[in-house]
Amino acid sequence: MTEDSVGNNMIACEYQPGLEGIPAAQSSISYVDGQKGILEYRGIRIEELASKSTFLEAAYLLIWGELPSKNELYEFQEEVRLHRRIKYSIRDMMKCFPETGHPMDALQASAAALGLFYSKRALDNPKYIREAVVRLLAKIPTMVAAFKQMRKGDDPVRPRDDLSYAANFLYMLNEQEPTPLEAHVFDVCLTLHAEHTINASTFSALVTASTLTDPYAVVASAVGTLAGPLHGGANEEVITMLETIGSVDNVHPYLEERLQRKERIMGCGHRVYKVKDPRATILQNLAEQLFKESGTDKYYEIALELEKAVEEKLGHKGIYPNVDFYSGLVYRKLGIPSDLFTPVFAIARVAGWLAHWKEQLAVNRIFRPTQVYTGTHDSPYIPIEAR
Ligand code: CMC
Repeated sequence: MTEDSVGNNMIACEYQPGLEGIPAAQSSISYVDGQKGILEYRGIRIEELASKSTFLEAAYLLIWGELPSKNELYEFQEEVRLHRRIKYSIRDMMKCFPETGHPMDALQASAAALGLFYSKRALDNPKYIREAVVRLLAKIPTMVAAFKQMRKGDDPVRPRDDLSYAANFLYMLNEQEPTPLEAHVFDVCLTLHAEHTINASTFSALVTASTLTDPYAVVASAVGTLAGPLHGGANEEVITMLETIGSVDNVHPYLEERLQRKERIMGCGHRVYKVKDPRATILQNLAEQLFKESGTDKYYEIALELEKAVEEKLGHKGIYPNVDFYSGLVYRKLGIPSDLFTPVFAIARVAGWLAHWKEQLAVNRIFRPTQVYTGTHDSPYIPIEAR
């Protein structure tokens, strides 16, 4: 142990930019093995959850630590269904947002505003925790879809109680009921994005949670962090890249040129995964199913060829498709505009953020890291006239 400048005991360790490799929490929520391409939620493989579970069941598992019984799941789904509507005053507030604003900024402001409407905080009361979880899971999709409608001057589409969580979101977004396959594919996408250990937005949620503020502020803080291009936005860029390539014949020349200019291939490579991201494999299968139902897409063909070419050229460096490589193609096919890709990521990740919030509350200690001071000491104060 050594002491920092204010006398706190601290474990001697070297400063790591971005805290890379420094454990920030103990957690039993999710696990990633980047060498073997494994992702587990509460010990259950993502492949199992994607094929056998639903997003709301996975959210329950993440937040409460175990799979719900039939009754527990039914009750949870019904509670979420009942809370899908947003208050008129929240709609009125959102109507005042500039239509040119980014949907992530609109989402961050609306999530924070929920704290104004549900302000009675009781973090040691399981009923309060449950209500906050239900409200956030239920209302965030409604707010994302409402902003999409309101920015073109239309009224938001009211949620439909007869539709599942995933089908209702697509319905509110596109004003059209999705096919069962589309609803299923979107539900799996939500499950895949629900949690991924401690990344920037989850860390942000933990730091905010550790001050014992309300869960709406926790989610708003995480949404703000997810909004940055280094975190949530690569799938949008994958679509732009596939459009620029334009044809299967152009894949190899494009890749060569890009690598010569030392530029990155979007949707490929990952700090943790050194093999193909297991979520990319699942998303590719979903894309395959969607395009089988509605006719193939030239950009999907380009993506398949690009994946082969990247494997040939960059596989030795551990660069393979990540979760963003196929998700944009799937979202586009589901009628989701590209600037809503990150808000859709947020809809899913609310489950993970809330799981970490709840885990943090149980062992809370406010985050207070130290710093390595690199400034001067005893500097003279220079009067303004002399500067
Ligand atoms: N295309 C080409 N080369 C790459 C790529 C790529 N996408 N990613 C890494 N490399 C190369 C890099 O040039 C370097 O080569 P060299 O050793 O010859 O200099 C080597 O691989 C290692 O690169 P790095 O920067 O140390 O790797 P990293 O772990 O810091 O990067 C990454 C991870 C995700 C930032 C990076 O792979 C990247 O920029 N990918 C493209 C953007 C992207 O798809 N982002 C979404 C990430 S997944 C969603 C999420 O977790 O939020």
